Amino acid sequence: MRAIVVIVSDRRSRGEANDETAPRLEAVLVPHGFEFAPVVVVPDERDAIAAALRDAATRARLVVTSGGTGIGPRDVTPEATRSVLDKEIPGFGEAMRAVSRTKTPFADLSRATAGTLGDALVVNLPGSPKGAEECLRAVLPSVLHGLKSLAGAIKDCQIEVAREQRSKPA
Ligand code: MTE
Repeated sequence: MRAIVVIVSDRRSRGEANDETAPRLEAVLVPHGFEFAPVVVVPDERDAIAAALRDAATRARLVVTSGGTGIGPRDVTPEATRSVLDKEIPGFGEAMRAVSRTKTPFADLSRATAGTLGDALVVNLPGSPKGAEECLRAVLPSVLHGLKSLAGAIKDCQIEVAREQRSKPA
C-alpha cells in the first residue's frame, strides 16, 4: 500500500524550513507495510491543498496532511479537505484530540478531520512533528481497518475486532 505525506506550510513551500514530520510518519507506517511516494509540499492555500489531495488520492491509498489545522489566519487545511472528501470521518479528529489532550493544553486548537476520497483515506494531522506522530498513532488501528473496509475487503468486522484485541498486550 502506498502512502503520501502532504506538508501544508507556507514556509516549507518557500524552502525556508526543513521538514521533520514526514520521516516520523514514515517510521510509524513502514512497519505496517506502507511504502512512500515523495513528499508533497503545498502552501496554506485552499485550492492548492485541494488539488494536491485529489492528485495524491489517485496515487496512494493513504494521504496524510500535516499543518494548517489550527485557527491562524492562513489555516485552511480542514476546509480544503472537506471540499474534496466523499465521506467525512469525524471520529478521527475526535480521537486525535482526545489523545492530544493528554499531551498538550492546546490540543483542541486543532480542527483536524479525515475522510474518504475515492479509494483513499485522507487524514489531517497537526503541523508539529511530534504532534503529527502522536495523532497518527491515535488513529492507526482505524486507518488500517478503514483501508480494508474502504476496499470492500471486510466481510465481518467482529473477526477484525477480535484480532485487534488479541494483538494488544494484556
Ligand atoms: N496535538 C498534539 N498531539 N501535539 C501538539 O503539539 N499542537 C496543538 C494542536 N494539536 C499539538 C496538537 C497546537 S499548538 C495547535 S495551534 C494546533 O494543533 C493546530 O496546529 P497546526 O495549525 O500546525 O495544524
